[in-house]
Amino acid sequence: MVTGDRFEGKIPVTIIEMTSGMPDNFKRHYRLRLNDLLKQVLPCSTTSKTGISLDAAMRYSALSAGKRLRPLLVYASGRALGVEAEKLDQAALAVELIHCYSLIHDDLPAMDDDDLRRGQPTVHMAFDEATAILAGDALQTLAFDLLVRQMDVANSSKIQALQILSKAAMDMVRGQALDISFEGKRPGQEQLEEMLQLKTGALIGASTLLPTAYAENLPESKCQSLSDFARAIGLAFQIRDDVLDVTGDTAVMGKPQGSDAGLDKASWPARFGIDEAHARTGQLYERAIIALEHFDDSADMLRDLAEQMIIRNH
Ligand code: IPE
Ligand code: IPE
Ligand code: MG
Ligand code: MG
Ligand code: MG
Repeated sequence: MVTGDRFEGKIPVTIIEMTSGMPDNFKRHYRLRLNDLLKQVLPCSTTSKTGISLDAAMRYSALSAGKRLRPLLVYASGRALGVEAEKLDQAALAVELIHCYSLIHDDLPAMDDDDLRRGQPTVHMAFDEATAILAGDALQTLAFDLLVRQMDVANSSKIQALQILSKAAMDMVRGQALDISFEGKRPGQEQLEEMLQLKTGALIGASTLLPTAYAENLPESKCQSLSDFARAIGLAFQIRDDVLDVTGDTAVMGKPQGSDAGLDKASWPARFGIDEAHARTGQLYERAIIALEHFDDSADMLRDLAEQMIIRNH
């Protein structure tokens, strides 16, 4: 019987041995790098002289204490493919900006109506609803603008990156629409997982696949492995999120526990139970690790992130 918020699913011992002791400074280093870059690219009313709160709301959202998981996936996947971090900065920024936009809109009264995000009042609470909607819109536009304006990158790579990110952003919106349509309903496992895959898995998939746009002579088999990895771990990540909504701690998560139950969301544990959710997460994690089996230790950062994604408490 699972009562706490610890991950209780089974992780094979061999996998624990493979990923433990991974240098944490990879994550620290790239989080700091991303935070610095964000400060540079976000508009700031003192420089743009608009005087309106839009810029402040964009910065409030994007500079808040996120885990930066999606940018970390970009850099980790780039490492597995031998693409230098410098070539990936815009992609890492873009995916985080799309994510921040999705969070602002997800929290709106018309959506999940939540008042806490990343340990601070949600954007519509700190500013107002109109500003929150517009800040989300603007973050999304900025994301694509950054990809278009990349320097020293072939147009073919830019177009590929734009295609990867725009498809994922569209899938995310489609998933959010499905999520709302499932409130109070009891979708089957396949339907439910398709929704979770769209609303969350798609952006995690894009984070993992964006570096393929900048890689040279990439064999199709590596793309396929990364795609299989992302599909499995993206779904596992959202199931873990659904579990934490039941068993987690608001103070640790920095967002309200019980939000899903309050809206009668068709979450994974609500449909099939907490124990089954842990088991499914472990199964997907295993699938993700197997998908990387033809990569050498250059993919260890991806393996490490995958583990973090399912054992996390926030
Ligand atoms: C939260 O994502 C939204 C989901 C898709 C579950 P994260 O858990 O990655 O949120 P931050 O970026 O760390 O705040
Ligand atoms: C949101 O899923 C996924 C997004 C596209 C933002 P949730 O609604 O479960 O995310 P949280 O729990 O509010 O972060
Ligand atoms: Mg939601
Ligand atoms: Mg939500
Ligand atoms: Mg949630």
